[in-house]
Amino acid sequence: MKPLPGRMTAAAVLVCGLLAAGTQADVVTLAVTATRQGQGTGAALLAALLAEARRRGTTEVFLEVRVDNLRAQQLYRSRGFVQIGVRHGYYQPSGADALVMRLDLTAQRPAGARVVPDAARAPSGSSSGDVPAGPAPDGAR
Ligand SMILES: CC(C)(COP(=O)(O)OP(=O)(O)OC[C@H]1O[C@@H](n2cnc3c(N)ncnc32)[C@H](O)[C@@H]1OP(=O)(O)O)[C@@H](O)C(=O)NCCC(=O)NCCS
Repeated sequence: MKPLPGRMTAAAVLVCGLLAAGTQADVVTLAVTATRQGQGTGAALLAALLAEARRRGTTEVFLEVRVDNLRAQQLYRSRGFVQIGVRHGYYQPSGADALVMRLDLTAQRPAGARVVPDAARAPSGSSSGDVPAGPAPDGAR
């Protein structure tokens, strides 16, 4: 591809994606550039994705997150996602496991709203189930 002339004056600072089909959707990516993290951008992006999911009639949203990505897990839990399983060796080439999380969008609260910790607790017996799935490249989600 031929490079554009002149200096690049804008930088991508955030990316997010939602894959919706029927009543289910997946958050396929969510990322904020390092210098913009911790300023509410990730939460705002997630709220926008969930609002769009609701608009499309989605009732449940799923995502995968690395087991060692505590910051992202905290974001998802604080917005109502609960862990429903683990995908072993999901990220490649590292072989890191992914937690699978689910959000019930039929709950009566604004999409993306922060929830109290008790409401974010996983149902008993559901947090350690193995979920079969293909691998994902490291850093993709
Ligand atoms: C995860 C990520 C998207 C969060 O975006 P962000 O803009 O930094 O997050 P926000 O400032 O909107 O904070 C949202 C929530 O994240 C959590 N959070 C933010 N900073 C945190 C920190 N230092 N430690 C723990 N949790 C933190 C909090 O729950 C916060 O909610 P609160 O402000 O209501 O308490 C961002 O850190 C990122 O892009 N990380 C790298 C890519 C990545 O890991 N993506 C997720 C893949 S599943």
